[in-house]
Amino acid sequence: MAATHDLLATKLKSLSVATLPKYPNCHPEVNPVDVYRAHLTEILTEVTGVDAAIIYPALQWTQTLEKGDLVLPVPALRVKGKKPPELAAEWVEKFPESPLVHKPTVNGTFLQFFFKVDKLAEILIPSILTRKQAFGRNKFLGLQDPEDPSKGNKRILIEFSSPNIAKPFHAGHLRSTIIGGFLSNLYEGAGWDVKRINYLGDWGKQYGLLALGFEKYGDEESLVSDPINHLFVVYVKISADQAAEKEKIKSLEAEGKTAEAQKLKDDGLDEQARRYFKAMTENDDKAIAQWSRFRGLSIKRYKETYARLNIHFDDYSGESQVKQEKMDFAAQKMADMGVSEESEGAVIVDFSKHVPGKAGKSLERPIIKKKDGTALYLTRDISEMMQRQDKYSFDQMIYVVASQQDLHLRQLFKIIELMGYKELAAKCQHVNFGLVLGMSTRKGTVKFLDDILKDVGEKMHEVMQKNETKYKQVEDPLATADILGISAVMVQDMSGKRINNYKFDMDVMTSFEGDTGPYLQYAHARLCSITRKAALSEEEIASADLSLLTESHALELVRVISQYPDVVQNTLKTLEPITVLTYLFKMTHTLSSSYDHLRIVGSEKELMKARMALYDAARVVLNNGMRLLGLSPVERM
Ligand code: ARG
Repeated sequence: MAATHDLLATKLKSLSVATLPKYPNCHPEVNPVDVYRAHLTEILTEVTGVDAAIIYPALQWTQTLEKGDLVLPVPALRVKGKKPPELAAEWVEKFPESPLVHKPTVNGTFLQFFFKVDKLAEILIPSILTRKQAFGRNKFLGLQDPEDPSKGNKRILIEFSSPNIAKPFHAGHLRSTIIGGFLSNLYEGAGWDVKRINYLGDWGKQYGLLALGFEKYGDEESLVSDPINHLFVVYVKISADQAAEKEKIKSLEAEGKTAEAQKLKDDGLDEQARRYFKAMTENDDKAIAQWSRFRGLSIKRYKETYARLNIHFDDYSGESQVKQEKMDFAAQKMADMGVSEESEGAVIVDFSKHVPGKAGKSLERPIIKKKDGTALYLTRDISEMMQRQDKYSFDQMIYVVASQQDLHLRQLFKIIELMGYKELAAKCQHVNFGLVLGMSTRKGTVKFLDDILKDVGEKMHEVMQKNETKYKQVEDPLATADILGISAVMVQDMSGKRINNYKFDMDVMTSFEGDTGPYLQYAHARLCSITRKAALSEEEIASADLSLLTESHALELVRVISQYPDVVQNTLKTLEPITVLTYLFKMTHTLSSSYDHLRIVGSEKELMKARMALYDAARVVLNNGMRLLGLSPVERM
């Protein structure tokens, strides 16, 4: 950091910017636009007489560069007595000549600032080319506790993916995986100590049933070679048996054969499953050993698939990992605090008694212990949260779960609060998302993540083969198709606001046209190809004379690139992948319209160096943005 700082200081001196005052949350050494914020704030304090602490945060970035690189809503400065347009005109009048920005323009109640882009290029491009992957990661010291920096960075737990063993990996899990992976990258980049948690569905009577199913239908070899599919097949078969048994009991009862019906109830599958699960809860060696084999083998396979998405977990937790002591403790606490109550032999929380009005009613009356004493999904989540607090003492926690479980998470957070853990509840946040409609492979409905990825990879391979000449140049087309396929699925998933539903459309997502994953990959590969062809050394590029970048296309590209750190900052507020994605598409569109105007091959050497520096900076930003989203940028395709 010290080196970049010196570099910046020297650069600013050469641009005759004498001083750059410091402001809170202003980091010119990592965000070049902050140089402008600081510089403008200094001028505006002088011009308006308003305090810098009000001016600095009022300077906003813009989505559309025609409106300026930064804008200032005049009313935000809270100057009394004159109308905003009048004030704006006055300030423009008084605005001194600056080495970095043009005189502002007035647009309604806004002041618009346009950077002197040649100067921006000189600050921006070297900063990107020296910081590379770190550009846009915005790691601020502000993440440490100012009272005690030795405590390290703030810690955030991100729970995501969380599939259920022996059950299909459905669209909800896919979205949770993609969004959770992205959020983990985002927070890690911003300097947080991120712990990724996978909370498996791996507990309950159905896992007793699964074990019985394995005795009847299981096959060692299939289990080891393909645990996820095999356990699913076994579970489907044994569930069918269980359903048939239920039917049988019904018809026996209808026929009046009560003794036979009772016998089935007493020692049929359902009862055996209940007993098996009971043995699991009582730590029976054999039952536990079998179950942990299923779990372990499934996790091993999950890990391989997650790795293809550049995702790893720090902790494979799960419903089974919630300790009985913690559950007893929570149950006692809820009773003591008057949060829970008995109702018809079960224990429930009647929110209408704790939260007034509509809000209380809308939280309903969830059961937390069934008549037979068994705990439920909600009960386990309560104790798991407390367990995580003990284990990780986190500063924040995010649950990435489908909006279908909005009520469940609202109930969870409220119960924790009612139990007296207000602070803990306040640290938790539900990041939700809508449905994927019609997710299916071409052979049928999807069961597992691997099936989706395989199918999209194959489709991608077909799309690539349509362009024969290009296809022949790709070194390993199958591997490339695989990566492009994954990008296709991920980008489609991130192409709208999280809360929106979307239609799973294989044709659209695998197209090279439109705002798709393959299009982004293509843009990246094209930049890499330009770099290879130019074959300039790093020193040559670093010594480029950037004042040669004079064409409007070059200047526009510089301005768009400069926004990346602000885009990342803004994403920390929206927590929406689309914030990054929209920006990357804007940038790649700007890029693709520049190629004809900013040629490398055939240009004179100095010009070639300057343009290459610009393309290099664009490549770094595109690469960083793609990695932030969880994509693996390809260099050739
Ligand atoms: N396994 C659950 C499901 O498939 C998702 C778990 C969500 N996380 C939680 N803490 N409840 O629906």
